[in-house]
Formats: sequence, structure tokens, C-alpha cells
Amino acid sequence: MAHLAVLRIGHRPERDQRVTTHVGLAARAFGADGMYLAADDKGVVESITDVVDRWGGSFFIRNHISWKRCIRKWKETGGVVVHLTMYGERIQDREEEIRSHSRILVVVGAEKVPGEIYGLADYNIAVTGQPHSEISSLAVFLDRFFQGSELCSEFPGARIRVVPAKDTKQTEERWD
Ligand SMILES: C[S@@+](CC[C@H](N)C(=O)[O-])C[C@H]1O[C@@H](n2cnc3c(N)ncnc32)[C@H](O)[C@@H]1O
Repeated sequence: MAHLAVLRIGHRPERDQRVTTHVGLAARAFGADGMYLAADDKGVVESITDVVDRWGGSFFIRNHISWKRCIRKWKETGGVVVHLTMYGERIQDREEEIRSHSRILVVVGAEKVPGEIYGLADYNIAVTGQPHSEISSLAVFLDRFFQGSELCSEFPGARIRVVPAKDTKQTEERWD
């Protein structure tokens, strides 16, 4: 099983809390192992940690990291870096090759992305050549990467889970 983490860069605590929290939640729900946050925002960490506590799994979040050091360490330990950008190569042309790696760091930006990242990444990958968002690009990338298997993920240790239903809202809680 591949080890895949997300690196969120460009986060501005005063503006991006909700989007970055959703980047983390999408990462967790769609099969990533954790998220590195290249900013200091304990609010984001708290929100995601709270979800992990209640909804299970072992998703990690690391706050206040240096994105350059994170990328360098990732590469030094044999991992590859995939930067999601509308200017990159088409995901459909590279997904198979990317899937052959066992350690993948997926980088998503915010408003402005430092130009340096294009050279540091092993792959610059576009999820269409149209502008959209870090959440949508990450969700589509992860679904392509895991080929839909992430939809059946289990989240061990959950205290709450949804019971799929046609026309009611049903959950099951466990407090042991
Ligand atoms: C709001 S966009 C801003 C992008 C910014 N204008 C730039 O320099 O690329 C924020 C992030 O969403 C992701 N993103 C947006 N559209 C994308 C696309 N078509 N393909 C891949 N990633 C995309 C990228 O990770 C980007 O850094």
C-alpha cells in the first residue's frame, strides 16, 4: 500500500482556515495518510484532530512546517513529489506512472504558488487545464490515484459512523 501525504502551502490563517480544513478533510476521506501544513494554524489542526477523534482512522496533521524542508526530506527518503497545478501535465497521461511509486507527497497551493515549486516537484499535474481549487483537484487526484478503492476505506477506532440510508439521516455511535 502506498504512503501518500499532502503538503498544503500558501495558507493564510486569516483567510484560508475553512479551505485548508477542507483540504485536510478531503485528504483524509479520500485515502491520504496525513497532511503537512506550511503555516502555523492551530485552529486547522484542532478541527482536523477533532474529526479524526470522532470519525476514526490514523490521519496525521503536522503544523508549522517548512515546505522546502518537507519536500527535501521527502525526496531524500525516496519519495516523489506531485504538485497539482492547472499548468501541469494532464493527470490522465501520468496517473499510471505516478501510481507505480510507493511514497507520494501531493502539494497543493492557495492563491499564489512560489515558482520554485515547479522545479522541485517530480511531477506538475493538472486536473484539467481550467482553474478550480485545491480541494477539487486533490479529491480528483486521490480518486484517480486510488482508482476508487478509497471509497471503501475503513476508519478504525471511529466513535461515530454513518449508516447509509435512502431517505433518513442515520448514524451509529460507540463509546467504549
Ligand atoms: C485557487 S488555485 C490558485 C492557483 C494559482 N493561481 C497558481 O499560481 O497556480 C489554488 C490551488 O488549487 C489547485 N488547482 C486549481 N486548479 C487546478 C487544476 N486545474 N489542476 C490542478 N490543480 C489545480 C492548485 O494546487 C493551486 O495551487
